[in-house]
Amino acid sequence: MPQSVLKDIQSEFMSWNNTGLNVMEMSHRSKNFQSILDNSRDSLRKLMQIPDNYHILFLQGGASMQNSMIPMSFLPEGSRASYLVTGVWGKKSYQAAKMVGEVDLTLDTSDSGYNFCPSLDDINVPNDVAYMHYTSNETIQGVTFQGTREWNVPVVCDMSSDIASKPIDVNHFDLIYAGAQKNMGPSGVTIVIIKDSFLQKAPEKTHPMFDYRLLVENGSMYNTPPTWGIYVCGKMVEWLLDLGGLPVIEKINQEKAAIIYESIDQSDGFYTGHAEKCSRSLMNITFNLPSEELSKRFIAEAGEKGFIDLKGHRSVGGCRTSIYNAFPKEGCVLLAEFMQDFRKKC
Ligand SMILES: Cc1ncc(COP(=O)(O)O)c(C=O)c1O
Repeated sequence: MPQSVLKDIQSEFMSWNNTGLNVMEMSHRSKNFQSILDNSRDSLRKLMQIPDNYHILFLQGGASMQNSMIPMSFLPEGSRASYLVTGVWGKKSYQAAKMVGEVDLTLDTSDSGYNFCPSLDDINVPNDVAYMHYTSNETIQGVTFQGTREWNVPVVCDMSSDIASKPIDVNHFDLIYAGAQKNMGPSGVTIVIIKDSFLQKAPEKTHPMFDYRLLVENGSMYNTPPTWGIYVCGKMVEWLLDLGGLPVIEKINQEKAAIIYESIDQSDGFYTGHAEKCSRSLMNITFNLPSEELSKRFIAEAGEKGFIDLKGHRSVGGCRTSIYNAFPKEGCVLLAEFMQDFRKKC
């Protein structure tokens, strides 16, 4: 979270808008909370330029629950979906969908250790699938698809780890989902952006908490929504708008990532990046050192300097630094310096 957002929240902590209430103390049915939710939704629409024919939902259950809810609603018997798997999260989405219905594995980059995402223009999806699904940025492997494109079928995308990190054309998607906890706020809120024409393909009736129609009809308030998280998401979105919007944060994110990738590329092979250059993530930078022992030392010494949690995910090992929207550029400069110093002394 950016310091300025935390301070803003702190200033409203004891009394939101002179109500004498913390947002956590408000009834979710109150006018005050409704105005907070409306503001978060409308600001997000403005930030991401989400057209009016898309609904915005703030749900619970994480991106993981969407992995099941999506096929339960949009993969009826007799139809097929197409999944592109370029990392651990895409694989989980694919596995969850397979438990519901027929799913084609249209792309699987596991043979290369998930170290790249091909150009979207080189991918062909059969015309007759109910939808296709991909993960725009694979958090664990640090690989990302470049750009977006129009498709011949409905498109569902997990944007958990790169939502609002750069401008995208929302019109290229039928359903976007993202756990808010990386770029958009605290854990506990899942953002779902769904095109109305796609929503109309959902079953008329299903279990209420899995019923996108019901959730839309009730404006994310079929049951008690994650009120605190929705409030903080609104603050994050306002911070991004004040900064100048998504083109500005994209430029900042590119500069931040370049600082660390440069340390990798100019290390004479001491650090090796996991991702192929054309697929490098701006959010998650994954790299290895010459040995397991050096990796351990690097992570421990980095921790002592305040660079915490640089250990790569247990499924891939090595190191990973996550530099989401709120992570400051100065932090990247300091980490790059630490990487250079560590290399020189080894
Ligand atoms: C790309 C991606 N998808 C899905 C998930 C799972 O999200 P959640 O924990 O909100 O279910 C994560 C979590 O890190 C992720 O990075």
